[in-house]
Amino acid sequence: MSVLSCMNVSKLFQDNGFEALRSISISIGEGESVGIVGESGSGKSTLGSIIGGLDKPTDGTVFYHGTDISSLKGGAFRQFRRSVQYIFQDPKGAMNPYFTLRRVLIEPLRINFPGIGKTELENRVEEMVGKVGLPASILDAHPYEVSGGEAQRIAIARTLLPEPEVIIADECVSSLDLSIQAEVINLLRHARTETGASFLFISHDLDLVRYFCDRVYVMLHGRIVECLDCRHMEEEAASEYTKMLLEDAYGKD
Ligand SMILES: Nc1ncnc2c1ncn2[C@@H]1O[C@H](COP(=O)(O)OP(=O)(O)OP(=O)(O)O)[C@@H](O)[C@H]1O
Ligand SMILES: [Mg+2]
Repeated sequence: MSVLSCMNVSKLFQDNGFEALRSISISIGEGESVGIVGESGSGKSTLGSIIGGLDKPTDGTVFYHGTDISSLKGGAFRQFRRSVQYIFQDPKGAMNPYFTLRRVLIEPLRINFPGIGKTELENRVEEMVGKVGLPASILDAHPYEVSGGEAQRIAIARTLLPEPEVIIADECVSSLDLSIQAEVINLLRHARTETGASFLFISHDLDLVRYFCDRVYVMLHGRIVECLDCRHMEEEAASEYTKMLLEDAYGKD
């Protein structure tokens, strides 16, 4: 069964009457890495927010282990919230600038595991910071005192600490230099192997998606054009749009 899926999801933004998603159905299996690729404005982030429960669809249903998320209450809803974590493009934008990185990491952990004591929380944070390749001393810094790559590693640590089942990564390396991009992607691949978490990997970069994912949904103007196995993209691509994306990424063969 899918960890997370959606059926016939549409999104109409009331303020401007824009239909950002049109009857979208996708699924993310246990331990699977699923990509969403498509041009700017195609609805990738809107879909990511809705399937992760941050925004509501105008129509259609999102399922967490087969249960409609709009019916989740109390502990079941908290479990869903903890199990689905995000990594965004701008890591510092999602951190309180007045907090040290230690506090940035401990606060959400405290909320997710209210029964765990302060020392244990601090130990978990220090251990996780090591796992994402940073020294424990960085925990005393504030978000504005670290580089973009370091901030994204902290953001990844924050995402991994609640032990999520699904990580929704939305353009999570787009703001980084190419060499740092590769380091962060490899860190995520390592985390994926170690934790068995599923990923919804959103990117406009087809090559990156291919490197990271098992399957990819191609989006255009709020619709899914097709879904491809990342190992056989060229053979499976049927739509002109996907062929164009492949040609942009790899040239004509
Ligand atoms: N809150 C909102 N109100 C109105 N329109 C919105 C809102 N959020 C997004 N949109 C519109 O919905 C469309 C899809 O936006 P979305 O951010 O999902 O695209 P995207 O594929 O993630 O693009 P990018 O690659 O640039 O991140 C865009 O045309 C955008 O302007
Ligand atoms: Mg986006």
